Amino acid sequence: MNQDTLKNLCIESCEVIREVGIFIKHELGKVQASAIETKALNSLVSYVDKEAEKQLVKGLNALLPEATFLTEEETVKSEAGEYQWIIDPLDGTTNFLHQLPFFSVSVGLQHKEEIIIGIVYEVNRKECFYAWKGGGAFLNDKKIQVTKTAQLGDTLIATGFPYYDYEHMQAYLGVLENLMRNTRGLRRLGSAALDLAYVACGRFDAYFEYSLNAWDVAGGILLVKEAGGELSDFKGGDDYLFGRQLIAGNPQILKALQGLIRENFYPNS
Ligand code: IPD
Ligand code: CA
Ligand code: CA
Repeated sequence: MNQDTLKNLCIESCEVIREVGIFIKHELGKVQASAIETKALNSLVSYVDKEAEKQLVKGLNALLPEATFLTEEETVKSEAGEYQWIIDPLDGTTNFLHQLPFFSVSVGLQHKEEIIIGIVYEVNRKECFYAWKGGGAFLNDKKIQVTKTAQLGDTLIATGFPYYDYEHMQAYLGVLENLMRNTRGLRRLGSAALDLAYVACGRFDAYFEYSLNAWDVAGGILLVKEAGGELSDFKGGDDYLFGRQLIAGNPQILKALQGLIRENFYPNS
């Protein structure tokens, strides 16, 4: 796909996602307790996630019929393919169901091993974060960049607290304690996709979390890269799309976080 085709596909995909955002916002505050299912410990879902996903699949399929899908709610069969949409129809479901206005739609298009389009849409503020490979990262038409903060002491860092996988709790708390003492502050806002988008636009200097799924991060990874940021897994490697753990940030702060995470998670390495 050349740059123009990629850019057009990205912009058209944003339109599909904005429409789905209208549906999600319309349902805010309307979901009855009886309509909430528990998929796994603390992992909730309702008809809103599923219906949003169906709408996304329909709209994106019309734009690129040859692409396959990998979606959180499995309303369509997961299939590998040269092009694959990786979709989280509602990232921040717990916030949504508690009527906290911080949730998003996250869509990434993978080509072979690489994400070539990334979109995260913040439904309440109507903020569309989007990037295509080689084209830069944008927030509602404005180019965005990661921060240039060099000192940990000047940073604001986002994370996601473990809520079902408590195996690495001590290591995680060790990282948190260090960051509480050595940064401006930590935030747990409840949407991994938006945490990445906020790193891309400089609202956060960095973000880290473990026990993530590919659909949580597929939309945001390219945003961070195209905005001049960097990403790694907890060992400093590249396995952050499917590797279930991710650090993202401006390049200097990413390095500082990698060191801190290594010390706490892999003290003998
Ligand atoms: C969750 C959110 C949350 C993060 C979890 C994700 P969901 O996604 O992104 O911030 O901490 O790891 O699973 O379940 O709301 O789509
Ligand atoms: Ca998610
Ligand atoms: Ca979700």
